[in-house]
Amino acid sequence: MIENIERTAAIADAMTDIRAIDAAGIDRDAVELIRRRLLELAELRELFPWSDFPADDSKDGSTLYLLSQDADHRLALYIQSVNDTTEAPPHDHLTWACIVGLEGEETNCRYDSVAGGGPPQVSEKITIRRNTGIAFLPDDVHSIHVQGGALNFHCYGHDLLDLPARNYWAEHVQEWRTMKVQFPIIDARP
Ligand SMILES: [Fe+2]
Repeated sequence: MIENIERTAAIADAMTDIRAIDAAGIDRDAVELIRRRLLELAELRELFPWSDFPADDSKDGSTLYLLSQDADHRLALYIQSVNDTTEAPPHDHLTWACIVGLEGEETNCRYDSVAGGGPPQVSEKITIRRNTGIAFLPDDVHSIHVQGGALNFHCYGHDLLDLPARNYWAEHVQEWRTMKVQFPIIDARP
């Protein structure tokens, strides 16, 4: 990928702001500020054309591009690109997480339950599209459902490959299990 200098600068500016919010302490208000800062970044739509982040259908339908990550594995920003469909079961993140829409739609369900409890119960269903986003604290549980393709920012307090195994609800056995992110992530940093 040829470096897009404006994109590199816009990402660096956003991550500088998000780093400061994170450093002041993470709570519901802080992740809301991070969500708003990512919405501002997403307004620069011409810097994030879908054609620069094509989805690879050979995996689970979803392709992750790494846009920024700190040297200590903290503060990771990705673009998730989905050609058609992808699903993620109810899971937590063990760190804060924000999703902000660029193209298409991603349905997010929030759950009342925390991992390790009983079966997760949906508390809220939110469709992420352009100009919308959602923020989670480390223990919050959500699931993802995409149909018809989507391009979104996914931002986490810690890089996904370095996170310990996260908790997810395994519907077929009706219990909480753990999963490690294993699929390759494309490093799209300049
Ligand atoms: Fe997630």
